Amino acid sequence: MEFSAFGKRFSRITGIGQLMEDLGEAIAGTREILMLGGGNPAYIPEILAVLQERMRQLAADPVMVRQLVANYDPPRGNRKFIHALRDFFRQEYGWPIETENIVQTSGSQSAFFMLFNLFAGAFDDGSRRKILLPLVPEYIGYTDVGLQEDLFTAGRPEIETFPDRSFKYHVPFHQLPVEQPIGAICLSRPTNPTGNVISDASIRQLLELATTRQIPLIIDNAYGQPFPNILFREARLDWSEQIIHCFSLSKFGLPGVRTGVVIADPTITKAITRMNGILNLALGNLGPLLFTPLLNSGEALRLGREVIMPYYRDKSRMAIEVLHRELAGIDYYVHKSEGAIFLWLWFPNLPIPSEELYQRLKQRGVLVISGHHFFPGLQGDWRHSHECLRVSYAMEERVVREGIRIIAEEVRQLYRRPQ
Ligand SMILES: Cc1ncc(COP(=O)(O)O)c(C=O)c1O
Repeated sequence: MEFSAFGKRFSRITGIGQLMEDLGEAIAGTREILMLGGGNPAYIPEILAVLQERMRQLAADPVMVRQLVANYDPPRGNRKFIHALRDFFRQEYGWPIETENIVQTSGSQSAFFMLFNLFAGAFDDGSRRKILLPLVPEYIGYTDVGLQEDLFTAGRPEIETFPDRSFKYHVPFHQLPVEQPIGAICLSRPTNPTGNVISDASIRQLLELATTRQIPLIIDNAYGQPFPNILFREARLDWSEQIIHCFSLSKFGLPGVRTGVVIADPTITKAITRMNGILNLALGNLGPLLFTPLLNSGEALRLGREVIMPYYRDKSRMAIEVLHRELAGIDYYVHKSEGAIFLWLWFPNLPIPSEELYQRLKQRGVLVISGHHFFPGLQGDWRHSHECLRVSYAMEERVVREGIRIIAEEVRQLYRRPQ
């Protein structure tokens, strides 16, 4: 049996594949694994209670049960959900959008598969275009979605360090590899893995670049406003016809319902609608049926601001405090935590590559992610990319504390003993 080129490409071991397998084993296994690797959002009791109540209402209503499980929704998505989203973004953000600007996707991961392959790869004139990632490290899940190899290009970020052992990456505007054909620019904001929130001024500059080139600027709001709103600093959420905004219900607490949303120019949403039809036939109904009333009543916004954001902000502060205590005396930096659910650690001159540190920590029952996965499109080997770890702080406090303690113990030993 031989797989096609597509088959080989999409069935090989990838960074995200390894992560999902580790996650599955950790959940299924008998030994306790300290799971600081995954992107699973936390189980927040107040959010779970709201969802459970809504599920009870749905299950008790025969009409709703029919809508939920016995109907195919159209490939643009659930109509009431799309209308609610349009009204919401008009009212809350003043966006002049219509329902034609909105399309539902089967999780936002599938939106990136469609968008990246829509704007990058081979073109009719024989040219090849790439997706520019203006700031790496960037989301691991982008790396392998290209139907063709080599879909991304990126420059080395600028690094600013601070006396309190924090640091921040900045978009390297003067060194972006823009001399080659670019089909779109994409960034996550807040950024997975670093928790960076790229400034409004940098977004404006990227939008200018996109407008000059007549290509879209894709903004991945998976952790951002308005839901889940895991954002610890002010940031604007602006509309422009040049911007493709991607949203997800996952980090609100609904990764299991696989619901994403793209808001963009109608030409783009129409293309995605058609691709939805081909790839999925129809989309899942549960996400829209759970979430639409929360959007309409303002609860989604309130829960984001009053429950989800403070929950993660407090967890982030706690985890950073533990890190500073446990890592005292070691040469390390933690990226400024401005949003999302991860801390990004940098160990300058780490004696072994972070890939090996990942393996050693896995042996000790701690799952993190090695930083080298997060630099898609970067040319040449950059030592820095093998000196970082992504650590999730979404799990219960005991797990986060113990996991960080073991990470610090392992790293301390590395600096002590000859390799
Ligand atoms: C930055 C970012 N974008 C997109 C996704 C995909 O999320 P989903 O497919 O669950 O909507 C994730 C998931 O972790 C993410 O971290």
